[in-house]
Amino acid sequence: MSRAALLAGLLALATLAQGHDEYHRQGAPRARAEAGERLADPAELRPEHWAQDAAAATLRRLAAGAARGAGVARNVVLFLGDGMSGATMAAARAHLGQRSNRTGEETDLYFETFPTVGLAKTYCVDAQIADSACTGTAYLCGVKANRGTLGVSAAVARGHCRAAVGSDHHVDSIAAWALQDGRDAGIVTTTRVTHASPAAAYAHSAERDWESDTDVADACADTPAEHRQDDIAKQLVHSFPGNQFRVILGGGRREFLPNTTLDEDGTPGRRSDGRDLIAEWRTAQAARGRRAQYVSDLAQLRAAADAAAPPDALLGLFAASHLPYHLQAAPGDPSLADLTEAAIRVLARNPRGFFLFVEGGRIDHAHHDNLPRLALDETVELAAAVERAAALLDERDSLLLVTSDHAHVMTYNGYARRGGDVLGPSDEVDARGVPYMTLSYANGPGFRPHVAEGLRDDLTRYDYTAAEFPFEAGAPRSSETHGGDDVAVFARGPAHALLAGLQQQSHVPRRAAAAACLGPPPHAPACRRWRRGAASSADP
Ligand SMILES: *[C@@H]1O[C@H](CO)[C@@H](O)[C@H](O)[C@H]1NC(C)=O
Ligand SMILES: *[C@@H]1O[C@H](CO)[C@@H](O)[C@H](O)[C@H]1NC(C)=O
Ligand SMILES: [Zn+2]
Repeated sequence: MSRAALLAGLLALATLAQGHDEYHRQGAPRARAEAGERLADPAELRPEHWAQDAAAATLRRLAAGAARGAGVARNVVLFLGDGMSGATMAAARAHLGQRSNRTGEETDLYFETFPTVGLAKTYCVDAQIADSACTGTAYLCGVKANRGTLGVSAAVARGHCRAAVGSDHHVDSIAAWALQDGRDAGIVTTTRVTHASPAAAYAHSAERDWESDTDVADACADTPAEHRQDDIAKQLVHSFPGNQFRVILGGGRREFLPNTTLDEDGTPGRRSDGRDLIAEWRTAQAARGRRAQYVSDLAQLRAAADAAAPPDALLGLFAASHLPYHLQAAPGDPSLADLTEAAIRVLARNPRGFFLFVEGGRIDHAHHDNLPRLALDETVELAAAVERAAALLDERDSLLLVTSDHAHVMTYNGYARRGGDVLGPSDEVDARGVPYMTLSYANGPGFRPHVAEGLRDDLTRYDYTAAEFPFEAGAPRSSETHGGDDVAVFARGPAHALLAGLQQQSHVPRRAAAAACLGPPPHAPACRRWRRGAASSADP
């Protein structure tokens, strides 16, 4: 690929969609690379680059005996804590323990007991600090991409109206690999099912914000309709692999309904094309010979999943947009653990196995608003969902992975005593004698002007135990930013040791594929080879 092509890929050619994602507003795109700017190696625009990079690392781990004695993963469940940084996990485990009146720091989130831990580097091809779209493309499709893009290589510039049309630059997810192998697949999230993280499992889009046709039409008014890509909701219902998913559970009804239709809660849809994609999903699934069911609250979800014969395909949309935070949920709202259990009940009937993606998507949103009480609680909820899945799936045939897409800029400040309230003030004060909280942010809406020259506001004067009380931020921003730290990768189940070590985020699905003998070469063939080797070897 030439340098000119690289530049074409990296320079934004189109204005960004206005977007309706309050947590991820973007600044103006840069028109051109600045003089002296460092640009990524052109090889990074090719999916093969990332495949070779992952293959080398995986084969080294196999050669080192990472899969010795392991069976093959029939099922793979990938749990994603959106924005679950290292500091988030450390504070969440203290918070979990303190809710039981313990000191807290010694507590384990359920997945922290998994036998393998790795680290993943989250940068994207055009971004030092990642977003959930390019990272989703990495940990689900095994390819690093440009910020804001989904299921496409870095040859596609964000917001380019024609670049993702046709399959030239499409990259497939591990959900697609599982389906191609005769297994089943599904997605579960607390965000809209069309939001960036789950969408990376099925969509190919130059822009994460193109969730309904209205978004595409607004951004691509100058592109004739027949040359525009499909919106993300339509891809989920009508394109491979979304159209074959057995389970789709989360929020986002508004992206599926016409702007003339009200949903169960009286919220209008956002579609301009007049299509009711929930009805179309039912019809399309029935045409495949599947017993398809749509549910919209917890009681309906339970009735469907606990039935003697659960439906063949289950679509559950529980909110117009995102699901509420767990701390603010109503009794009819399912928890992430409820959704995970229902998904596994539907998927577990395929003897060949399944791939399931489960996202705790609102850790990220709470951090963007500098609300650590909500962020920590959502992290605890993710751990509860992992625990529910672990109780339902056999460690001998099910690989459970828990990771994050990117960090956030919450810090866990010094120096509280052991057992100090992790959501309270530190035991120390600043140089002017003003208290500060144990958790604070480098930036975000929690910024407060100094009350006098050099004198910070004293947050302990306020009710900082309120869920919506923003903690302190150093630089004012309407939305706190992601962070560039590495994220953790926890693994339990067959060949879990393949996930150990510091790795590119794009290795995650490929190493999982090597544990499950699925996906494109070389991972599936390598998996079959060591299986044969293991079978013929005395080494158990
Ligand atoms: C923790 O202690 C408080 C105050 O003594 C008590 O009300 C609460 O029930 C305790 N919680 C647990 C989980 O033990
Ligand atoms: C609904 O979509 C139609 C077709 O694009 C448009 O003309 C109309 O203004 C929209 N209505 C609302 C309430 O947005
Ligand atoms: Zn975010």
